[in-house]
Amino acid sequence: MDKILIVGPASQILAIGIAQELGIESLSTEFKTFPDGENYLRIDIDDESKIKGKEVIVVQSTGPSSSGNQNSRFFELLMMIDSLKRIGAAKIIVIIPYFAYGRQDKIFRPGESNFANLIIRILDSMGIDELYIVDIHAPEILEETFCKTINIDSMKPLAEYIKSKGAKDIVVVAPDKGAVERSKKFAKYFREDTPVEFFEKHRDVKTGEITMSGNLSLKGKDVVISDDIIATGGTMATAIKLSKESGAKKVYAVATHALLLQNAKYRILSAGADEIIGTDSIDNEVAKVSLVKTIADYLK
Ligand code: R5P
Repeated sequence: MDKILIVGPASQILAIGIAQELGIESLSTEFKTFPDGENYLRIDIDDESKIKGKEVIVVQSTGPSSSGNQNSRFFELLMMIDSLKRIGAAKIIVIIPYFAYGRQDKIFRPGESNFANLIIRILDSMGIDELYIVDIHAPEILEETFCKTINIDSMKPLAEYIKSKGAKDIVVVAPDKGAVERSKKFAKYFREDTPVEFFEKHRDVKTGEITMSGNLSLKGKDVVISDDIIATGGTMATAIKLSKESGAKKVYAVATHALLLQNAKYRILSAGADEIIGTDSIDNEVAKVSLVKTIADYLK
């Protein structure tokens, strides 16, 4: 079946790279926000037969940026899928490099919505065939869909980047217990016996305030602190500070999705990080690790 890739507004560099890696044609979109705030998107084609009967891959991240917030990004994605269904694409594969709302996967306080799960259900109900998300916060929400779902692992290219920087005597530190399993997998990409340590983190569900504790043996070590998301940088900065107090020589602040909101860069660097490293799931200045090959390999 002929394949074609739609470059979502939020993932232009990454999506073009994936199309090139797969050796397939890519199509752009025309998008804007109307004066009343509504989103508009059309796939930029003159002739719909370009899409009809084809296998179509859509790439659209949903992180906030100056050209669109998370909600706009989701609406644009829904519009692309809806157009493809109407036109009669034979197969629709959706790639969401960063899945926003992923942290709203549980009920933390009475009266809340399980919103991450709802978004997955909406996408599934649109009749897509496959859904690929990179390092989703709670992979279990992908379990109850009709379409095929894959949680893409970005740890190998992230570890390769850190190795290329000459890091030695590495300890991987998880900023909280929830990140331990992920950090254990990550550590194996350095050496089979790379140690993994963690801090105890508590977040106040009402105020969002973080407290973290722990005294680890990190004297003279190159510490890699790995998390799925850096949002305001509070978690990472606190873990960096504690790592430094525990004797770390170098500290690499690593996240698949480095959103770097508010003064996150300042907080992380002033806490003592030597470098902030993210992937191009978020198109910003710390997107030093490309997911092009990783995503393309899953699609091949
Ligand atoms: C939480 O469970 C996540 O894995 C991250 O640790 C968190 O979202 C980071 O948020 P922030 O940068 O605002 O502390």
